[in-house]
Amino acid sequence: MSPHASPEVVLHPDAEVLAAATAARLLTRLVDLQSHRAPLHVVLTGGTVGTATLRAVAASPARAAVDWSQVHLWWGDERFLPDGDPDRNETQAREALVDALGDALPAANVHPVPARSDAVPDADAAARAYRAELAAHAREGARAPVPDVLLLGVGPDGHVASLFPGKQTLHEQRDLVVAEHDSPKPPPERVSLTFPVIRSAREVWLVAAGAEKAAAVARGLAGDDVTTTPAAGAVGTERTLWLLDVAAAQDLPAADPAADGDGTGRDGTGRDGTSHEGTGAGADAERLWARVDDYLAAVVDEPADAATVAAAAAGSGLPDIAVAPNQGRLLEILARAVGARRVLEVGTLGGYSTWWLAQALPSDGTVVTLELSEAHAAVARASLDAAGVGDRVEVRVGPAAESLDALVAEDGEPFDLVFVDADKERLATYVDRALTLSRPGTLVVVDNVVRGGAVVQPDHPDTRVQGVRAFVAALARDPRVDATVLQTVGAKGHDGFALLRVR
Ligand SMILES: C[S@@+](CC[C@H](N)C(=O)[O-])C[C@H]1O[C@@H](n2cnc3c(N)ncnc32)[C@H](O)[C@@H]1O
Repeated sequence: MSPHASPEVVLHPDAEVLAAATAARLLTRLVDLQSHRAPLHVVLTGGTVGTATLRAVAASPARAAVDWSQVHLWWGDERFLPDGDPDRNETQAREALVDALGDALPAANVHPVPARSDAVPDADAAARAYRAELAAHAREGARAPVPDVLLLGVGPDGHVASLFPGKQTLHEQRDLVVAEHDSPKPPPERVSLTFPVIRSAREVWLVAAGAEKAAAVARGLAGDDVTTTPAAGAVGTERTLWLLDVAAAQDLPAADPAADGDGTGRDGTGRDGTSHEGTGAGADAERLWARVDDYLAAVVDEPADAATVAAAAAGSGLPDIAVAPNQGRLLEILARAVGARRVLEVGTLGGYSTWWLAQALPSDGTVVTLELSEAHAAVARASLDAAGVGDRVEVRVGPAAESLDALVAEDGEPFDLVFVDADKERLATYVDRALTLSRPGTLVVVDNVVRGGAVVQPDHPDTRVQGVRAFVAALARDPRVDATVLQTVGAKGHDGFALLRVR
């Protein structure tokens, strides 16, 4: 059995509720733990939600139930700035909570990362001092106390504490505290706990709110490589909790009905597509949709080759955003219905939908599939070769808009079927180019155009929602096609696809 707890996900409607609920959870946890353990060590995080959580702790009458004299506060990371700088996590935490606790929390229990000063002239010196502070509070023979609860924010790039994608600090095995001199997020000088401390914590709680975190959250929960998504490596020995608002969770797979008894969790292992931005349907409805998909799975009877392609994508750490098997079958049926020989796909990922399309073609058929990521394309090529359809698939790597322009310039044979399933921001452009590459009778399928119902909100902040809205607006007045859009519910949540037939 793994010495680390597999992640559990808890969803809240928005950032405000997330902060309040995390505060309530923290207070309850501290009270429970204090019935059998002392002192407790809590590692705090900065950031908007982290600080709002501390404010909510301060505002809660339940804070009086905690014996703060037996709680030590630490920080997962700190910006290396002078004492009192408003950008220091310490300053924000003092204003939000520590000052409000007053004498209840002894000053000696508060362990900020040293600020910039004459005595601590650089981040290395601060890291050394923090290492010593940890050692001074460790049990005999240990180098640091074991955090009871370690809170972390998650950056839009997937960073946690000040451990950023691609940095050597991610691989630190020995040092418990490191200096970061070139942070991609200002200020450049920072001090951070390392994974050896984070992963020693009994409970790691990752707290994230907002659509800008959604992709990183999805990658983290899908077990992405820590080099690209550091959050994926943040796990506790007893519990790993991802505390999210709905916007941050919008790219997660739909709930697995068997995975979670209380309706709050989401299992990161299901096959899924995209968003839950506007979803107001509730966990019960989502569980029912997923159960109906399970019940109907025998009709689709996913072929072994398709499952192998999906497994290879998961094994390579690709995000879990391929079409579901029933949607793959729909693509196959459409390809066969129009007698497709030439298929264009925008958005390859690991080649799952590509497989469904390719195997539906005659032996001289071709799928041209466009993918931005060389890594995704490599996984897809290998899987499609192994499945015996590689000779029918041409994977073109690069931004889809450029690949489409190149196809237009090549002026080749028109496509019979087009499947558009990549980034949504440029959806209208992709469909416009696809229509240029079509002939009368060509079918165009455009995925994920309902996005949990978020598309009805004209001012929705998510650029993907705005991309879909621009596409729908253009579609409504496009004389080149007969079009419909169908809403769907299922294991992927509430979404929908557009079906266009070229006149
Ligand atoms: C939803 S996934 C595709 C899933 C795939 N069609 C399936 O069902 O198996 C979207 C893919 O589009 C790719 N993508 C994102 N932006 C792109 C762009 N500008 N150009 C080309 N591909 C892009 C992503 O890297 C990702 O692999």
